[in-house]
Amino acid sequence: MALLEKHKILEKNATLLLVFSFLVVTIGGLVQIAPLFYLENTIEKVEGVRPYTPLELKGRDIYVREGCYVCHSQMIRPMRDEVERYGHYSLAAESMYDHPFQWGSKRTGPDLARVGGRYSDEWHFDHLTDPQSVVPESIMPKYGFLTNRMIEPSNMKDRLLADSRVGVPYDEAMIDAAIEDFRAQADPDRDASGLEERYPGAEQRNFDRRPGISEMDALIAYLQVMGTMVDFSTFQPDPAR
Ligand code: HEC
Repeated sequence: MALLEKHKILEKNATLLLVFSFLVVTIGGLVQIAPLFYLENTIEKVEGVRPYTPLELKGRDIYVREGCYVCHSQMIRPMRDEVERYGHYSLAAESMYDHPFQWGSKRTGPDLARVGGRYSDEWHFDHLTDPQSVVPESIMPKYGFLTNRMIEPSNMKDRLLADSRVGVPYDEAMIDAAIEDFRAQADPDRDASGLEERYPGAEQRNFDRRPGISEMDALIAYLQVMGTMVDFSTFQPDPAR
Protein backbone atom coordinates (compact mmCIF):
# COMPACT_ATOMS: atom_id res chain seq x y z
CA MET A 1 0.00 0.00 0.00
CA ALA A 2 1.41 3.37 -0.98
CA LEU A 3 2.03 5.91 1.79
CA LEU A 4 -0.73 8.06 0.40
CA GLU A 5 -3.19 5.19 0.70
CA LYS A 6 -2.22 4.66 4.34
CA HIS A 7 -2.75 8.33 4.99
CA LYS A 8 -6.29 7.94 3.64
CA ILE A 9 -7.09 5.75 6.66
CA LEU A 10 -6.13 8.64 8.96
CA GLU A 11 -8.05 11.19 6.96
CA LYS A 12 -11.22 9.13 6.97
CA ASN A 13 -11.21 8.39 10.71
CA ALA A 14 -11.75 11.52 12.83
CA THR A 15 -10.74 9.90 16.12
CA LEU A 16 -7.56 8.44 14.70
CA LEU A 17 -6.71 11.79 13.05
CA LEU A 18 -7.21 13.55 16.38
CA VAL A 19 -4.95 11.09 18.21
CA PHE A 20 -2.17 11.41 15.64
CA SER A 21 -2.48 15.20 15.42
CA PHE A 22 -2.13 15.34 19.18
CA LEU A 23 1.00 13.20 18.99
CA VAL A 24 2.58 15.42 16.34
CA VAL A 25 1.84 18.64 18.27
CA THR A 26 3.21 17.12 21.49
CA ILE A 27 6.51 16.07 19.93
CA GLY A 28 6.84 19.37 18.04
CA GLY A 29 6.12 21.35 21.20
CA LEU A 30 8.67 19.40 23.22
CA VAL A 31 11.38 19.88 20.62
CA GLN A 32 10.76 23.64 20.55
CA ILE A 33 10.16 24.32 24.22
CA ALA A 34 12.33 21.87 26.17
CA PRO A 35 15.71 23.38 25.14
CA LEU A 36 14.62 26.75 26.56
CA PHE A 37 14.71 25.27 30.06
CA TYR A 38 18.40 24.48 29.67
CA LEU A 39 19.43 27.90 28.38
CA GLU A 40 20.32 30.34 31.12
CA ASN A 41 19.48 33.33 29.00
CA THR A 42 17.93 33.67 25.57
CA ILE A 43 19.18 37.23 25.11
CA GLU A 44 22.72 37.45 23.85
CA LYS A 45 24.87 40.09 25.50
CA VAL A 46 25.64 42.93 23.14
CA GLU A 47 28.35 45.50 23.69
CA GLY A 48 27.16 49.04 24.25
CA VAL A 49 23.72 48.32 25.66
CA ARG A 50 23.46 50.09 29.03
CA PRO A 51 20.59 51.03 31.34
CA TYR A 52 18.91 54.38 30.61
CA THR A 53 20.19 57.48 32.39
CA PRO A 54 17.71 58.96 34.88
CA LEU A 55 16.76 61.70 32.37
CA GLU A 56 16.25 59.19 29.52
CA LEU A 57 14.26 56.93 31.84
CA LYS A 58 12.02 59.85 32.78
CA GLY A 59 11.56 60.63 29.08
CA ARG A 60 10.59 57.05 28.50
CA ASP A 61 7.98 57.24 31.27
CA ILE A 62 6.54 60.32 29.54
CA TYR A 63 6.53 58.44 26.22
CA VAL A 64 4.49 55.66 27.85
CA ARG A 65 2.23 58.10 29.72
CA GLU A 66 1.42 60.04 26.53
CA GLY A 67 0.63 56.84 24.66
CA CYS A 68 3.17 57.34 21.87
CA TYR A 69 3.13 53.54 21.53
CA VAL A 70 -0.45 53.76 20.28
CA CYS A 71 0.92 55.04 16.95
CA HIS A 72 4.59 54.03 17.04
CA SER A 73 6.28 50.64 17.25
CA GLN A 74 9.88 50.11 18.42
CA MET A 75 10.90 46.96 16.64
CA ILE A 76 12.54 46.75 13.23
CA ARG A 77 11.88 43.32 11.81
CA PRO A 78 14.67 41.52 9.92
CA MET A 79 13.04 42.01 6.54
CA ARG A 80 14.54 43.91 3.66
CA ASP A 81 11.92 46.68 3.37
CA GLU A 82 12.15 47.45 7.09
CA VAL A 83 15.93 47.31 7.27
CA GLU A 84 16.25 49.63 4.25
CA ARG A 85 13.81 52.11 5.71
CA TYR A 86 14.73 52.11 9.40
CA GLY A 87 18.23 50.60 9.71
CA HIS A 88 19.64 47.45 11.31
CA TYR A 89 16.94 45.13 12.63
CA SER A 90 16.27 45.36 16.36
CA LEU A 91 18.24 43.05 18.69
CA ALA A 92 16.61 41.52 21.76
CA ALA A 93 19.39 43.04 23.88
CA GLU A 94 18.40 46.54 22.81
CA SER A 95 15.16 46.35 24.76
CA MET A 96 16.39 44.15 27.62
CA TYR A 97 16.14 47.04 30.10
CA ASP A 98 12.69 48.18 28.91
CA HIS A 99 9.95 47.72 31.48
CA PRO A 100 7.45 47.48 29.89
CA PHE A 101 8.83 46.90 26.37
CA GLN A 102 7.52 49.13 23.57
CA TRP A 103 7.83 46.77 20.59
CA GLY A 104 4.23 47.09 19.43
CA SER A 105 2.86 46.43 15.99
CA LYS A 106 0.65 49.47 15.39
CA ARG A 107 2.31 51.85 12.98
CA THR A 108 0.15 54.87 12.37
CA GLY A 109 3.47 56.70 12.43
CA PRO A 110 6.89 55.23 11.57
CA ASP A 111 8.84 52.80 13.75
CA LEU A 112 11.00 54.71 16.24
CA ALA A 113 13.48 52.01 17.30
CA ARG A 114 16.37 53.84 15.58
CA VAL A 115 15.17 57.42 15.56
CA GLY A 116 18.05 58.48 17.86
CA GLY A 117 20.46 60.84 16.11
CA ARG A 118 18.39 60.95 12.91
CA TYR A 119 17.11 64.47 13.62
CA SER A 120 18.42 67.42 15.61
CA ASP A 121 17.04 68.36 19.03
CA GLU A 122 15.54 71.45 17.37
CA TRP A 123 13.73 69.31 14.85
CA HIS A 124 12.24 67.16 17.64
CA PHE A 125 11.26 70.27 19.58
CA ASP A 126 9.49 71.79 16.57
CA HIS A 127 7.94 68.47 15.58
CA LEU A 128 6.63 67.61 19.04
CA THR A 129 5.35 71.15 19.55
CA ASP A 130 3.59 71.31 16.18
CA PRO A 131 4.12 68.26 13.94
CA GLN A 132 2.40 69.93 10.98
CA SER A 133 4.98 72.72 10.98
CA VAL A 134 7.63 70.27 9.74
CA VAL A 135 5.50 67.53 8.15
CA PRO A 136 2.42 69.32 6.77
CA GLU A 137 0.41 66.15 6.15
CA SER A 138 1.11 64.71 9.64
CA ILE A 139 -1.78 63.56 11.81
CA MET A 140 0.37 63.41 14.95
CA PRO A 141 -1.05 65.37 17.91
CA LYS A 142 0.76 68.41 19.37
CA TYR A 143 2.76 67.95 22.57
CA GLY A 144 3.93 71.54 23.14
CA PHE A 145 2.59 71.54 26.71
CA LEU A 146 5.53 69.31 27.71
CA THR A 147 7.82 72.36 27.47
CA ASN A 148 5.91 74.05 30.30
CA ARG A 149 5.88 71.04 32.61
CA MET A 150 8.99 71.25 34.78
CA ILE A 151 10.29 68.08 36.42
CA GLU A 152 11.13 67.89 40.10
CA PRO A 153 13.39 64.81 40.16
CA SER A 154 12.97 64.07 43.89
CA ASN A 155 11.60 60.56 43.20
CA MET A 156 14.29 59.52 40.69
CA LYS A 157 16.11 57.32 43.22
CA ASP A 158 12.98 55.29 43.85
CA ARG A 159 12.36 55.11 40.12
CA LEU A 160 15.78 53.54 39.52
CA LEU A 161 15.38 51.29 42.54
CA ALA A 162 12.08 49.99 41.11
CA ASP A 163 13.75 49.03 37.82
CA SER A 164 16.68 47.46 39.68
CA ARG A 165 14.20 45.18 41.46
CA VAL A 166 13.09 43.75 38.12
CA GLY A 167 16.62 43.11 36.91
CA VAL A 168 17.99 46.35 35.45
CA PRO A 169 21.61 46.54 36.71
CA TYR A 170 21.37 49.91 38.46
CA ASP A 171 23.91 49.62 41.26
CA GLU A 172 23.95 51.51 44.54
CA ALA A 173 26.17 54.27 43.16
CA MET A 174 23.79 54.87 40.26
CA ILE A 175 20.77 55.00 42.54
CA ASP A 176 22.51 57.34 45.00
CA ALA A 177 23.51 59.69 42.18
CA ALA A 178 20.15 59.55 40.36
CA ILE A 179 19.09 63.12 41.10
CA GLU A 180 22.56 64.55 40.46
CA ASP A 181 22.84 62.64 37.16
CA PHE A 182 19.36 63.74 36.15
CA ARG A 183 20.29 67.41 36.60
CA ALA A 184 23.76 67.05 35.09
CA GLN A 185 22.57 65.60 31.79
CA ALA A 186 20.26 68.48 30.93
CA ASP A 187 22.53 71.29 32.08
CA PRO A 188 25.81 71.83 30.16
CA ASP A 189 27.12 73.98 33.02
CA ARG A 190 27.21 71.06 35.41
CA ASP A 191 30.00 68.52 35.77
CA ALA A 192 29.00 65.40 33.83
CA SER A 193 32.05 63.24 34.49
CA GLY A 194 30.13 61.06 36.98
CA LEU A 195 27.26 60.68 34.54
CA GLU A 196 29.62 59.72 31.72
CA GLU A 197 31.36 57.18 33.94
CA ARG A 198 28.12 55.52 35.05
CA TYR A 199 26.41 55.69 31.65
CA PRO A 200 29.03 55.54 28.87
CA GLY A 201 28.01 57.55 25.84
CA ALA A 202 25.35 59.59 27.64
CA GLU A 203 24.90 62.96 25.90
CA GLN A 204 24.82 66.11 27.98
CA ARG A 205 23.04 69.20 26.71
CA ASN A 206 20.03 71.44 27.13
CA PHE A 207 17.72 69.43 24.89
CA ASP A 208 14.91 71.98 24.58
CA ARG A 209 17.24 75.02 24.76
CA ARG A 210 15.12 76.58 27.48
CA PRO A 211 15.94 77.20 31.15
CA GLY A 212 15.00 74.48 33.63
CA ILE A 213 14.44 70.77 33.04
CA SER A 214 11.09 70.17 31.41
CA GLU A 215 9.31 67.03 30.27
CA MET A 216 10.30 68.12 26.75
CA ASP A 217 14.00 67.86 27.74
CA ALA A 218 13.47 64.33 29.07
CA LEU A 219 11.45 63.15 26.08
CA ILE A 220 13.98 64.46 23.54
CA ALA A 221 16.85 62.92 25.55
CA TYR A 222 15.04 59.59 25.32
CA LEU A 223 14.26 59.92 21.59
CA GLN A 224 17.89 60.77 20.87
CA VAL A 225 19.29 57.66 22.57
CA MET A 226 16.85 55.24 20.93
CA GLY A 227 18.65 52.59 18.91
CA THR A 228 22.06 54.26 19.24
CA MET A 229 23.70 52.18 21.97
CA VAL A 230 25.01 49.41 19.71
CA ASP A 231 27.73 50.26 17.19
CA PHE A 232 26.61 48.37 14.10
CA SER A 233 29.81 49.08 12.20
CA THR A 234 31.51 46.56 14.49
CA PHE A 235 28.61 44.41 15.67
CA GLN A 236 28.85 40.68 14.88
CA PRO A 237 26.00 38.33 15.79
CA ASP A 238 27.17 35.51 18.08
CA PRO A 239 27.48 32.45 15.77
CA ALA A 240 26.91 30.09 18.72
CA ARG A 241 23.31 31.28 19.06
C1 HEC B 1 -2.19 59.63 16.44
C2 HEC B 1 -0.96 58.93 16.18
C3 HEC B 1 0.34 59.44 16.78
C4 HEC B 1 0.66 59.62 18.10
C5 HEC B 1 -0.20 59.41 19.32
C6 HEC B 1 2.05 60.01 18.12
N1 HEC B 1 2.54 60.06 16.85
FE1 HEC B 1 4.47 60.45 16.32
N2 HEC B 1 3.97 60.32 14.35
C7 HEC B 1 2.72 60.03 13.87
C8 HEC B 1 2.74 60.10 12.41
C9 HEC B 1 1.57 59.86 11.49
C10 HEC B 1 4.06 60.46 12.04
C11 HEC B 1 4.60 60.69 10.61
C12 HEC B 1 4.42 62.15 10.22
C13 HEC B 1 5.25 63.08 11.05
O1 HEC B 1 6.50 62.99 10.99
O2 HEC B 1 4.68 63.87 11.81
C14 HEC B 1 4.80 60.58 13.28
C15 HEC B 1 6.16 60.87 13.35
C16 HEC B 1 6.91 60.89 14.52
C17 HEC B 1 8.34 61.06 14.57
C18 HEC B 1 9.28 61.19 13.38
C19 HEC B 1 9.71 59.79 12.98
C20 HEC B 1 10.55 59.72 11.72
O3 HEC B 1 11.32 58.75 11.60
O4 HEC B 1 10.42 60.59 10.86
C21 HEC B 1 8.70 61.05 15.89
C22 HEC B 1 10.09 61.20 16.47
C23 HEC B 1 7.49 60.89 16.66
N3 HEC B 1 6.42 60.78 15.79
C24 HEC B 1 7.43 60.85 18.04
C25 HEC B 1 6.24 60.72 18.77
C26 HEC B 1 6.20 60.81 20.21
C27 HEC B 1 7.39 60.99 21.12
C28 HEC B 1 4.88 60.68 20.55
C29 HEC B 1 4.27 60.76 21.94
C30 HEC B 1 4.59 61.96 22.71
C31 HEC B 1 4.13 60.48 19.33
N4 HEC B 1 4.98 60.53 18.28
C32 HEC B 1 2.77 60.27 19.28
C33 HEC B 1 1.62 59.68 14.62
C34 HEC B 1 1.53 59.73 16.00
